[in-house]
Amino acid sequence: MQTISRVKGTQDFIDLTLFNFIIHTFETHADLYHFSRIETPILEKVDLFKRSLGLHTDVVSKEMFIINTQGKDEQICLRPEATAPTVRMFIEQKPLTPWKVYSFGSMFRYERPQKGRFREFHQINMEVIGSASIDQDAQLITMLDRFFHETLLMNNYSLQLNFLGSYDDRAAYSNLLRTFLKKESGICKTCRERAEKNVMRIFDCKNPDCQKIYDNAPLIVDHLSTASKKEWEQLQETLSLLSVSFAYNHKLVRGLDYYNKTVFEFASSSLGAQNAFCGGGRYDRLSMELGDPQEHPALGAAIGIERLMLILEPTKDKLPLPQPAPLYIIMPLSPEQNSVALLLADTLHASGLVTDTLLEGNSLKSMMRRANKMGAAYALILGSEEQQNKSVLVKNMMNSTQEQVAQIDVVNYLKP
Ligand code: HAM
Repeated sequence: MQTISRVKGTQDFIDLTLFNFIIHTFETHADLYHFSRIETPILEKVDLFKRSLGLHTDVVSKEMFIINTQGKDEQICLRPEATAPTVRMFIEQKPLTPWKVYSFGSMFRYERPQKGRFREFHQINMEVIGSASIDQDAQLITMLDRFFHETLLMNNYSLQLNFLGSYDDRAAYSNLLRTFLKKESGICKTCRERAEKNVMRIFDCKNPDCQKIYDNAPLIVDHLSTASKKEWEQLQETLSLLSVSFAYNHKLVRGLDYYNKTVFEFASSSLGAQNAFCGGGRYDRLSMELGDPQEHPALGAAIGIERLMLILEPTKDKLPLPQPAPLYIIMPLSPEQNSVALLLADTLHASGLVTDTLLEGNSLKSMMRRANKMGAAYALILGSEEQQNKSVLVKNMMNSTQEQVAQIDVVNYLKP
C-alpha cells in the first residue's frame, strides 16, 4: 500500500532545538521591551483579510486557504498573517494603549513552494497599537535589529527602509506614478494590470526590463507633504543615533495594502530569491478599515521563522543553544525487573533527573548500544541479583567505570 506523504508546502520538524531557541530568546527580548504575549485563533473570517490586506493583493486574490463550512458559517479561512487578527482583537477587547503585543504561530498562504517559501509557515508577529509617534517606529526597528545582531549574532543581513508618507501622499504619488507609466511602452502585462489596481506594486516586478524603467520612476520621498517629510527625516536621524544601519530602498512597497509611512524589511543574501526574513511597517488606518470608529495609529512587524532558521543553521554552533540535561537510562535485564525499574525511574523523575527506561526486553548488549547512541551519561542496570539485594549497577558511560549502589542511595550518588 502507498504511504501518505505530508501536504505540499508543509513541513515536519524532527529537531526543534533551533526553532525553540528562536522563540524563547524572542520571548525574553520582547519582555525586555515590555511587550506581552497574546494568541489569536488560526481560523478567521475571510472578510477580515479582504478588508485589511486589500482585494488586489496576491494574498487575498489567490493565496487564501478558504474552508468549506457546508454553508453553515460565514466564509472562514486559515489566517495568512497576524496583523489583521491582532487589530480585530484590539477592537473587540479595547485594551489600554499603546498596546504592545506579540504572538507566534502558523500562517497559511497558497504560494508556489520554493526555498524559504511554504504554504504553512511560522511567524513571530509583533504590533504596537495606539501610537502615532515616529520614534515608536525607530524603537521597534531597533528592537528587531538588536534581536538579530546581539541575540542571534547575525551579521549577514541588511535593513531596507522606505517611507510611503500619509495615505494622501500615497494617493497623490500613485497618480504621479501612473502618469509616468503611461509614457513607458516597455513594461510587462502584470505591471500594466498593477498600474490599474495597485500601482506601487510595480516595484515588486521580477522582470529586469521593467526594473530598468523603474530606476527612473519618480520617488515617493520626493513627493511627501511637509509633515511627512519631517517624520521621514526624524526616523532616519533617530535610527542613526541608535546606531542602526539601514539602506534606503525606494522600491520597497511591501505586498499588503494597509501600510502608510514607514515600511521596512530585513533581508539576507544567503536566502536566495525569498530574501526577506522580517517585514513590517506602519498602518495607521487599519483599525478604521475594520470598523473601529476611531483611528488608532499603529505599527508592527513579523519575522519568518523558517527563513531565520535557514540563515542561522550553518552557524548555529556559535549560539548558546540549550545543552540537553544528562540522561540516565534504566535497563531491566528481564521483564521480571520491569516493576523495580519503573519504581526506580519514578524516584529519579521525582528528583528532576532525565530518565528513560528500556522496557522492550532486549539483551544488555543491544541496550548498551542504544544508550550509547542516545548519548546517555549513566546506565542503571537491574538484574535479578540487584532486584534481590535492592541495589543497582550504575555504569558511567563516559569512562566505563561501574559501581553497585543501594537503590535508596542512587539519587544522591547521581545528582551532580
Ligand atoms: P509579510 O512580509 O507578508 O508581512 O511576512 C513577514 C515575513 O514572513 C516575511 O518577511 C517572511 O520572512 C515570512 N513569510 C511570508 N510568507 C512566507 C511563506 N510563504 N513561507 C515562509 N515564510 C514566509 C506580514 O505578514 C505582516 N503581517 C507583517 C506586519 C506586522 N506588518 C505590520 N505588522
